[in-house]
Amino acid sequence: MVNVCEAVEDMMKTRERKGEEVGQKRGEEIGRKRGRIFLSFALIFCLLTGVVQSGAAVSAYNVPDDMKWWAEDKFGMFIHFGSYSEYGQGEWAMQTQGISKEKYQETISAKFNPTQFDAKEIVSYAKKAGMKYLVFTAKHHEGLAMWDTKVASFTDHTGQKIYSLQQYTPFGSTGRDIIMELKNACDEAGIKFGLYYSIIDWNHSSQTIKGNFTQMKSWDARTSYINDMKAQLKELVDTYDPAVMWFDGDWTYRKDAPTLSQWWTKADGEDLYQYVKSLKQSIIVNERVCRGFGLGDFECPEQNIPEKAPSRSWETCQTMNGAWGYNKNCEKAYYDVRYMVQDLVEVASKDGNYLLNIGPKGNGAVTAGTQKVLSGIGTWIKKNGESIYGSSGTPFQKKPSWGRYTRKENKVYAHVIKWPKNQKLVAAKLKNKKLQKVSLLRNGKALKYSVKNNKITIKVPKKCPDKSDTVISLEYK
Ligand code: GLC
Repeated sequence: MVNVCEAVEDMMKTRERKGEEVGQKRGEEIGRKRGRIFLSFALIFCLLTGVVQSGAAVSAYNVPDDMKWWAEDKFGMFIHFGSYSEYGQGEWAMQTQGISKEKYQETISAKFNPTQFDAKEIVSYAKKAGMKYLVFTAKHHEGLAMWDTKVASFTDHTGQKIYSLQQYTPFGSTGRDIIMELKNACDEAGIKFGLYYSIIDWNHSSQTIKGNFTQMKSWDARTSYINDMKAQLKELVDTYDPAVMWFDGDWTYRKDAPTLSQWWTKADGEDLYQYVKSLKQSIIVNERVCRGFGLGDFECPEQNIPEKAPSRSWETCQTMNGAWGYNKNCEKAYYDVRYMVQDLVEVASKDGNYLLNIGPKGNGAVTAGTQKVLSGIGTWIKKNGESIYGSSGTPFQKKPSWGRYTRKENKVYAHVIKWPKNQKLVAAKLKNKKLQKVSLLRNGKALKYSVKNNKITIKVPKKCPDKSDTVISLEYK
């Protein structure tokens, strides 16, 4: 895992070196590879350009009614928390360090005692950062259920105890249910609540670990695991009423009939999606019920931003320091706040959502680095949130050299990341619309401008007001 952080540090250095350059190189590379998937985007975009140019707040794709809140909220908090947090080397440590199931459970999970977990505090950080929804790991690949599951087959390696936070760890004696605490804190704060669930399970007796993933022991084992997984999902939906169900760990998938090592199929993904929807119709489900086949309600690129906006709803999930689950080796590798603000803006300019992760420590405490990042983003959001929430992507086909655009109703927002040295910013103008005001969003200060040939030339202050992103509001009649 140290390598992950080193990679992040390298990347940060590269970003620093590139200084003011706008763009997500990493995302662009991956985006290019995914080009085929996005071919249809160009066509849809062209068809919609007319609508978009008229300034109506629509996305480049249609958002189903049930997903409107999600598409408008734009920004959420991901929380990776499990007994891996106790070990402090990331949620993959059991695998990457070849720790046996027995040793992992007896020396790590058995010590997991998050008495400092404070749902209200976490939710208050999310709220201050401007996050509008939250997704919490109910069960990660390690298999530890973070709720008091009653599904009998999810035992520890001895088969004697249910492998859950309540039944297996010392924290059980507190009688607390941290998922319910979070759910309640979210409800109070007006933040939507979601849950993450891993399809593969390194602990469950139906599977043996094979490489990074798992292999089914038999066909019967596969059938009963899938049934039991559904029983757990029913518990989760019935108990916590999540607005989002975020799946992961679907990697052993194939399109057609399963094998014991590639035991998850497209048909299983379709079935799982229908099952979850049957439990709660309005729930929003990500594509990882079985990725790669356009399933689920939204695409979820991971730690990258596609160069071209996907042709349907999408969300990118991102870490603050290369780690999902708490990793003490990554504590010095937090990104600079401004890059996360710029990521959020980049995502919004492409009609996407941004799910930013935190990894509390094993005792439940939120790290100082995390708090700093969240409060930094909050400072920017407080002044500029209007240009993000409920916005849709850029109305223009061409990316400006200085930053990005978002739009909402009669406004286009110019997100200026590279501040012009000559105090002159040239922005595109919506065709056939009359511009009536140009101002700095952060303080409402009007800026002088002139319009010629659908180009707006704006006189901006000499000193860059915000190095993360200065937003200029272009208001039309
Ligand atoms: C990757 C990681 C996993 C993490 C997920 C979040 O798939 O392997 O641990 O939960 O990303 O998207």
